[in-house]
Amino acid sequence: AFNLRNRSFVKELDFTPRELLFLIRLAADLKAAKYAGTEQPRLLGRNIALIFEKTSTRTRCAFEVAAHDQGAHVTYLDPAGSQIGHKESIRDTARVLGRMFDGIEYRGSEQSLVEELAEYAGVPVWNGLTDEWHPTQMLADFLTVTEHTDKPLGEVTLAYMGDARNNLGNSLTVTGAMLGVDVRMVAPRELWPDEETVAAPARSIAETTGARVTFTEDVAEGLAGADFVYTDVWVSMGEPAEVWEERIRQLLPYQVNAEALKATGNPDVKFLHCLPAFHDLGTQVARDLHARTGLSALEVTDEVFESPASVVFDQAENRMHTIKALMVATLGG
Ligand code: CP
Ligand code: NVA
Repeated sequence: AFNLRNRSFVKELDFTPRELLFLIRLAADLKAAKYAGTEQPRLLGRNIALIFEKTSTRTRCAFEVAAHDQGAHVTYLDPAGSQIGHKESIRDTARVLGRMFDGIEYRGSEQSLVEELAEYAGVPVWNGLTDEWHPTQMLADFLTVTEHTDKPLGEVTLAYMGDARNNLGNSLTVTGAMLGVDVRMVAPRELWPDEETVAAPARSIAETTGARVTFTEDVAEGLAGADFVYTDVWVSMGEPAEVWEERIRQLLPYQVNAEALKATGNPDVKFLHCLPAFHDLGTQVARDLHARTGLSALEVTDEVFESPASVVFDQAENRMHTIKALMVATLGG
């Protein structure tokens, strides 16, 4: 068995591939137990801090519901509601919260801050997204992959279309490599992940796991034979509004539409998106952009998003089961 007690998860490489797979299996067990009404609370009396320097729907709710299901209490600290970063350093914050809480989730921009928190808190720290990595998302994504294919991960092909230089692009490249997947980053070259910190490590991991890591600008080549097509927003939280126009210009050829799914040649292909998604005019940002550009969808068309191929809400639900597994494994009795 695996003992992950007291371990932090600030980036995917904090765990071995086998440990990641263990967490995904544990999440599947916890999900089954919740559905069967047989879940056992293993976090009774634990106190968990949730720090969000950026907004969230899924990650925050996943931590809260998972903690409650397991008998733990949570305290939510929003961007304005604490001293963090404005009046108090992350080092001091870490040492204070570490005296009160048994575990700490942190979402913010800089990866160095979540790492500093983990270094000084003395309790497990979980990265709920930074500009660099989104490790808890990876657990949910690969649980969802295992639920929607009969193939072992070593035979799965996952093509990511769009901004491959953001947190999701980085995380999928490295996690795909760790889990032995044929992972393809399909994007214009200037939006490929950083060579030194992401691409090169992923390639060397792939040599030991049998994964294939491909970066390509060629949509047809990238999509051929894919079992899963994944995309994310073209402009991430914290990026300036000025980048919209350029991103749209760069990434329209990489939109996930019916033609893209067809280009996989796989009638059973599934569509993944970490969400939130820009596929309709359901937000003010989308309506403003529509007024300026005439576009009513960006990274994915509404047709694909709402199609039977789309498993995005399974993916969203799985955020909760996998975050629960992470907390149980690192804190549980
Ligand atoms: N996928 C994800 O992290 O969603 P939130 O930003 O809503 O937490
Ligand atoms: N790349 C996106 C992911 C959101 C879950 C962002 O950082 O905004």
